[in-house]
Amino acid sequence: MQVIQTIAQLKEVLQAERAKGKVIGLVPTMGALHDGHASLVKRSVAENDITVVSIFLNPTQFNDPKDLERYPRTFESDCNILQECGAQIVFAPSVSEVYPEPDTRHFSYPPTDSVMEGAKRPGHFNGVCQIVSKLFEMTDPDYAYFGEKDYQQIAVIRRMVDDLGFRVNIVPCPVIREDDGLAMSSRNTLLAEDEKAIAPNIYRILCESKKLSLGIAETEQWVIDQINNIPGLEVEYYSIVDGDTLASINDWSDANSVVGCITVYCGKTPIRLIDHIRYK
Ligand code: PAF
Repeated sequence: MQVIQTIAQLKEVLQAERAKGKVIGLVPTMGALHDGHASLVKRSVAENDITVVSIFLNPTQFNDPKDLERYPRTFESDCNILQECGAQIVFAPSVSEVYPEPDTRHFSYPPTDSVMEGAKRPGHFNGVCQIVSKLFEMTDPDYAYFGEKDYQQIAVIRRMVDDLGFRVNIVPCPVIREDDGLAMSSRNTLLAEDEKAIAPNIYRILCESKKLSLGIAETEQWVIDQINNIPGLEVEYYSIVDGDTLASINDWSDANSVVGCITVYCGKTPIRLIDHIRYK
């Protein structure tokens, strides 16, 4: 496994591989890798000749400087995980390598980037588009793998790929969960033991909501009430939307794919947890 820190070297190595007809898979990450990331990397390794995993804690997508500050940084153990998964290249550039000057590009793909996380974290998806478009330009991958845990992120990236005409195929991969149902996330390591004990209620309640026979607004409210009833959990939003466009819907029959997306504050710090559930 090769660790590369400069864009020039990455391009040189990948150009040589592409000239040999090799198929390239990209797994973009911000490090602090867990089994969810490992599943993306293993899938890319199985489906491509060369798998590039980028590890870059992208400052432009953090709207809250404290969130960036406390984001876990575990480069050595990340490399061990990637070695075990069989990745060929780790791309770990510095901030000045990626952003030699401020990125002033502005991306706008409503409603995918304006609702839910887009509304609560202004600028977040703009930063995601800035870094992901740069990574696509640097690696020119055949396939790029993203976890469905960040459901909305995939919808935004798909719109960006169409808009900018990247040839990459986006591969969404299922959420990997702990045995208790908690969606794996790098931020879970920031949870205290008592917070870890209550966090799985989020997915449990989402699953229970599938058994209700209520309208959209009533189901949203039921989920919010159930979760807010648990001391230590506070829902920021729960929105049931069209699973493709993320536009709001009034009735279950308004879209072919229907997904509920949630963000919950957990504990005293608090830690912001996101999850989703597919209704159809
Ligand atoms: O999902 C993430 O970890 C990040 O948003 C990504 C796609 C690596 C861009 O920084």
